[in-house]
Amino acid sequence: MNHLYFVTGCAGFIASRLTARLLAEGHGVVGVDNMNDAYDVRMKHRRMEDLRKIKGFVFFETDVADRETVSLAFHHGLSQVKNQFPGYAGIIHLAARAGVRYSVENPWVYCQTNILGTLNLLEIARLENVPKFVLASSSSVYGNTPATHQGIAFSEDFCTDFPCSPYAATKKAAETLAYSYHHLHGMNIAALRFFTVYGPAGRPDMSVLRFVRGIREQEPITLYGDGSQSRDFTYVDDIADGVLRSLNPEGYSIFNLGGDRPYSVNTLLALISEITGQKPIIVQKPPHPADVASTWADISRARQILGWSPAVSLREGLEKTVAWYDENREWAKKLDMG
Ligand code: NAD
Ligand code: UGA
Repeated sequence: MNHLYFVTGCAGFIASRLTARLLAEGHGVVGVDNMNDAYDVRMKHRRMEDLRKIKGFVFFETDVADRETVSLAFHHGLSQVKNQFPGYAGIIHLAARAGVRYSVENPWVYCQTNILGTLNLLEIARLENVPKFVLASSSSVYGNTPATHQGIAFSEDFCTDFPCSPYAATKKAAETLAYSYHHLHGMNIAALRFFTVYGPAGRPDMSVLRFVRGIREQEPITLYGDGSQSRDFTYVDDIADGVLRSLNPEGYSIFNLGGDRPYSVNTLLALISEITGQKPIIVQKPPHPADVASTWADISRARQILGWSPAVSLREGLEKTVAWYDENREWAKKLDMG
């Protein structure tokens, strides 16, 4: 059966991929995004161009932190497809200020979007009795957990009281707000902790696209620290699959969605070098104080309850990302990487 979903941040990396997938499965999507310039906005316009070609997609350029206009978009969107869908089956809230490091410079914009924006969406879901709310959370909520030094994966039950960046703090705040809405109003909510997501049309402010572009174009690459920090890199289609699976369970749950195997940033660089056949030109900078030392998802809960596990290895995902870059090279080499 086909449903209608309200997807926030639909011009973004993950939400655009998810929206395309929902539409391909015959669902309807009303999407909102404020098309901000957190990174080169041409990437967002490009993703939107692709989405606009697909039937069943309605878009509003709207700020989720503006309660009135996001609520209008929600209602106008529904009125446009009312003949096909009786109402929304869910809100998938992926809009956010998402860069870890920039949050140190401008924490206000993070609080505005990630906390107030989330509150606005939760309120809409409550007032309109939307049966499901999915919230994009982040591996960053774990901070520098002691598990890092013990060499064990992060379970959802670990303490998340010590975030290392304002970004991480806003993600934790959004999770706790969501829990309070579940507690008070019985709302069905899944908070998904994504682990460093990468793939085609990825974010120009993140390591993978920056490294692919830098190595292909033989431009200098900034490396924070000595590259021994590690991430549980996760391919974007695996994340889209996890979001879809999270639409079913009821109640409030938190799920880690991670690649299940951490790799150091040095290994990431080596793999991209191998795939491209080119060497990086590295400019080393001090470790960034907002970065965590490592991430590693314990995905047993997602496996058990969602039947989810990552299908794409880092090497395979990087090959797809490099292939995407090469296909779009003339355009992608002109992107402003910040
Ligand atoms: P992204 O920046 O590509 O997508 C977010 C989208 O939200 C952007 O298109 C942006 O314009 C939009 N947006 C931001 N503020 C808005 C506002 N006030 N109103 C309306 N739209 C707004 O980032 P992404 O990597 O696709 O991340 C999607 C979600 O997943 C975010 O919530 C992010 O925090 C979370 N997340 C991402 C990763 C990752 O590695 N990419 C990992 C963990 C969590
Ligand atoms: C990513 C996303 O940006 C966040 O939105 C998300 O919440 C987070 O993952 C998560 O997993 O929750 P981050 O891990 O910092 O954050 O992702 P990258 O930008 O890809 O950075 C990974 C590592 O590479 C970091 O140690 C970073 O310092 C390093 N890096 C990044 C560089 O050395 N050089 C760069 O140019 C970019």
